[in-house]
Amino acid sequence: MEFKQQYAAYQQAIEEYLNGIFTADKPYGRLQEAMRYSILGGGKRIRPVLTLEFARLGGIDWHLALPYACALELVHNYSLIHDDLPCMDDDDLRRGQPTTHKKFGETLAVLAGDALQPEAFRLIAEAPCMSDGSRVEAVRVLARACGADGMVAGQVLDTLYGIHTEEQLKAMYRLKTGVMISGAAELGCVAADMPADMRAQAVEFADRLGLAFQIRDDMLDVVGDQQVFGKPIGSDKEEGKITYVDVDGLEGCARAVESCTQKAKDAVAHWPEHDFLFALADQLLAGKVDHAVLGEPFLSIALRKDSTLQILADLNRPDSVSSGFAQTAILYAPALKKSQKAIDSLLHLSCRFAMEQPEQAIRILEKEKIFASGMLTPESIE
Ligand code: IPE
Ligand code: IPE
Ligand code: MG
Ligand code: MG
Ligand code: MG
Repeated sequence: MEFKQQYAAYQQAIEEYLNGIFTADKPYGRLQEAMRYSILGGGKRIRPVLTLEFARLGGIDWHLALPYACALELVHNYSLIHDDLPCMDDDDLRRGQPTTHKKFGETLAVLAGDALQPEAFRLIAEAPCMSDGSRVEAVRVLARACGADGMVAGQVLDTLYGIHTEEQLKAMYRLKTGVMISGAAELGCVAADMPADMRAQAVEFADRLGLAFQIRDDMLDVVGDQQVFGKPIGSDKEEGKITYVDVDGLEGCARAVESCTQKAKDAVAHWPEHDFLFALADQLLAGKVDHAVLGEPFLSIALRKDSTLQILADLNRPDSVSSGFAQTAILYAPALKKSQKAIDSLLHLSCRFAMEQPEQAIRILEKEKIFASGMLTPESIE
């Protein structure tokens, strides 16, 4: 089956399963409402899809793994509800909608998150058609992924510890994001009782993918399109977070994402059926380059005054946007490192230049070997 169709089939089964829980009428119905608001709010379902695909690759009917897949998705949603709280990242928007605490208030948001956790383990405990041994192992995998040495540890490092170096960041990303993604893959392996060597490869695939995914998330927090991203742009900076973008720049991030994705693929490349996993990896990490990404390379060019002068000489067109861009770059070049306003206005002008004069923009970027980074392609400008 084609990747898109298979993903849609998984997604539909996940939506139906999640839509069927927390439906009973209760005297404390607002709790159910808040939980359902979160779990049915339009998540991409990457994690449960991984569970189902690895269950299928392990040779069982993937529908049997739905309770395991959705259990992890419940925990994922609790982690997002809490992640958005004012005491954490203090965000108002998630999946294009008000965050749970904005909609239901902080008390109910905290409690909905609390309730989602044990309910997840109940789904596993009550999974039909799974052996007791499988259920115990699934509980262990999920607990390890989200517990005190997993996702929560990552959130503690992210919010309460000073993380500065690339190594520290990677370790923190593995915990806050990677372990839930590799846990999801592992749950599929457990459901299918996969041999240990394949299970280790599945975990490696997902671990690398998880790292790439979080680095990509950091990039999108800077240069994403809020309409597509569904989350506020600039939230990390506002919270004073040091992210991978700070330590390695946008182009460094793009390279890291590419290299992690490649390593992820390498882990399962020898599996006879790896097409879906490869397509998923590509799909997750691709995405349309938006205007700000387009402006960024010009900004870094502008930081080098000699090449800015060269651009101006090349263009030599007094009234064009491109000339305006180059002149502004020269004016701002010395101040760029200091003034956010200067950076923002040059970024804006650079984007306009790239949008309005794509051929010139491509020429300059080619000359500066910007396309070699892989983050931009000439097609993304044209
Ligand atoms: C968001 O994960 C949290 C991160 C680890 C960056 P997703 O982007 O998978 O969230 P949804 O469930 O699809 O909204
Ligand atoms: C969230 O990381 C990771 C978890 C929720 C465990 P972020 O804080 O970067 O996720 P977003 O950007 O809010 O989705
Ligand atoms: Mg966070
Ligand atoms: Mg957050
Ligand atoms: Mg983020």
